[in-house]
Amino acid sequence: MRIAALISGSGTNLQAMLDAGLPIAVVLSDRPGVAGLARAEAAGLPTVVVDRARWLPDRAAFTDAVLAALAPHRIDLIAMAGFMTILDAAIFATYPERIVNTHPSLLPAFRGAHAVRDALAAGVTETGCTIHYATPEVDAGPVLAQRVVPVLPGDTEATLHERIKDAERSLYPEVLTRLVAEAAAAAEAHSG
Ligand code: GRF
Repeated sequence: MRIAALISGSGTNLQAMLDAGLPIAVVLSDRPGVAGLARAEAAGLPTVVVDRARWLPDRAAFTDAVLAALAPHRIDLIAMAGFMTILDAAIFATYPERIVNTHPSLLPAFRGAHAVRDALAAGVTETGCTIHYATPEVDAGPVLAQRVVPVLPGDTEATLHERIKDAERSLYPEVLTRLVAEAAAAAEAHSG
């Protein structure tokens, strides 16, 4: 099993995947110079930047560039980990049910790029994170796992997001480890 991790920022979910020993084959960022790329390099992994500033607003061209960058790495599974560019339908056709994402809310509540801010604004007492298959419709694919996180008095977007990210860093590697094991078992059954 070869996993591509797609990142845009600090890459702490990527770090949790690396610490869990997941078979990350390549790390792709949609912008240069982010901390997550340094984490990948420190782990000795190949990295690739497909700079969104070069391609957007042409989402189809950006997605084609991502597909071209991934192709030589013979990827089985794509794990989006804080990847903040919406991908065009082509990638979901190329990797059907092979793209997973983590989102900082209990989907279907608070879809979109401001999930933590929106949960705070709504005054909920609990939010959380969702690991789900990604589909062309953003933050709407089948749910793999969720974990509840309390909203505490005095929370800011930053403190709440950090508490949610703690949950993501625990749950996401667990789910990916399960998917890797299931793929291995399926391959074994097929060969045997
Ligand atoms: C996570 O909360 C993810 O759900 C959100 O961005 C954050 C990524 O954090 N979309 P990191 O880059 O893994 O530290």
